[in-house]
Amino acid sequence: MSTQASPYAHITGWGRYAPAGVLTNADLEKMVETSDEWIRTRTGIRERRVAAAHETTASMAAVAARRAIAVAGLQPDDIDVILLATLSPDYWMPSTAALVKEAIGNTKAFAMDVAAACSGFVYAYSAGQAYITSGMARNVLVIGAELLTRFLDYTDRSTCILFGDGAGAIVLSAADTQGGGLGFELTTEPSGAYMIWLPAGGSKSPPSRATVERGEHYIRMDGTQTYRFATRTLASTALAAVAKAGLEPADIDLFIPHQANIRIIQSVADGLGLSMDKMFVNLDRYGNTSAASIPIALAEAVDSGRVKVGDKLVIVAFGAGYTSGAAAISWTADPARGALAESIRPEDVTVRPPLDWEPVDPIPAALVEILARPGSPEPGAKAAEVHA
Ligand SMILES: CC(C)(COP(=O)(O)OP(=O)(O)OC[C@H]1O[C@@H](n2cnc3c(N)ncnc32)[C@H](O)[C@@H]1OP(=O)(O)O)[C@@H](O)C(=O)NCCC(=O)NCCS
Repeated sequence: MSTQASPYAHITGWGRYAPAGVLTNADLEKMVETSDEWIRTRTGIRERRVAAAHETTASMAAVAARRAIAVAGLQPDDIDVILLATLSPDYWMPSTAALVKEAIGNTKAFAMDVAAACSGFVYAYSAGQAYITSGMARNVLVIGAELLTRFLDYTDRSTCILFGDGAGAIVLSAADTQGGGLGFELTTEPSGAYMIWLPAGGSKSPPSRATVERGEHYIRMDGTQTYRFATRTLASTALAAVAKAGLEPADIDLFIPHQANIRIIQSVADGLGLSMDKMFVNLDRYGNTSAASIPIALAEAVDSGRVKVGDKLVIVAFGAGYTSGAAAISWTADPARGALAESIRPEDVTVRPPLDWEPVDPIPAALVEILARPGSPEPGAKAAEVHA
């Protein structure tokens, strides 16, 4: 039997990317019968980011990934494994992770997508942790990336107000010193399988004129049931991860919950007996970016000075499946390193397009006008200036 202790998997790099296009509540008021007041009070969302025609899940993921690798002080070829959580891949095949591997200039890693909807990033993180602690990898890139605005029905006010686009990434690196993921809890409850789903496009109902006419290529959701699941599950999942880490909720410096709805986050705080100061919230500016929401929030929390070396963090998510997942983490990286992300500009990262094939215009008619006006600054670059 080997006497060597398992290595720890520290978070050494973090990065994010959000497209410049902004869809506000006022824009949605013009599309469906809703109001800024309703959306803000029921969800907490004010605006979301929308990817432009030249952007894809892979392109956003690749920018966030290059930023995370720069922050970690590594080269792309130092990465052994690329795990990309998404429910909005560029294609059914190849994996979006494979496209990202090429786009970031990595020649060595194996790459795969992880499908666990909004919990996908936590699931992928747990897999990355296992690769490192088992000795199978030294550096793992874990990405959450989504382009959801192309999968929404802009006549369905119960879903089109919720979701947005973006990407976040972390690098996990092996070390013998203590730190990184301390406790994980992952659950899957198939009883909720059809509470958030996208009916057509898969083998059960391949895409056809009929499926498109029936609007079955859009995300569907039972909001009330999903809300109940979230409020029932998030606090207990977070608590289980905290307990597995040998900690108490009061030991946690910052919770970074999935950014779905401010009322759901409030109920997690209540369930854990904590105040909202312990909850990181940025959903007002991004909406629900599914698998991207936690890595974007984590990077933003670190870059905005909410995290310091030695802090204990909890990330916790829920989503379609029904899935949920949480990780308790001991933070060991110098937050000032986040400024290194600034060296990566989106225009320097390219996803190779296929030969002899032109996609049809990917932009939904409802978003054409929004994307034609000047966008907002890119949040990753702005945050980096703080540390410059
Ligand atoms: C979607 C959600 C915001 C709806 O909020 P809610 O308080 O539950 O609202 P309800 O669904 O009960 O609807 C209340 C009323 O508002 C209406 N409504 C729904 N969307 C609306 C909108 N965008 N604007 C105005 N009214 C709206 C409903 O039609 C309903 O009207 P009725 O009473 O006349 O039937 C909420 O259920 C939610 O956040 N669920 C979880 C969704 C989620 O997080 N999904 C992602 C999982 S990762």
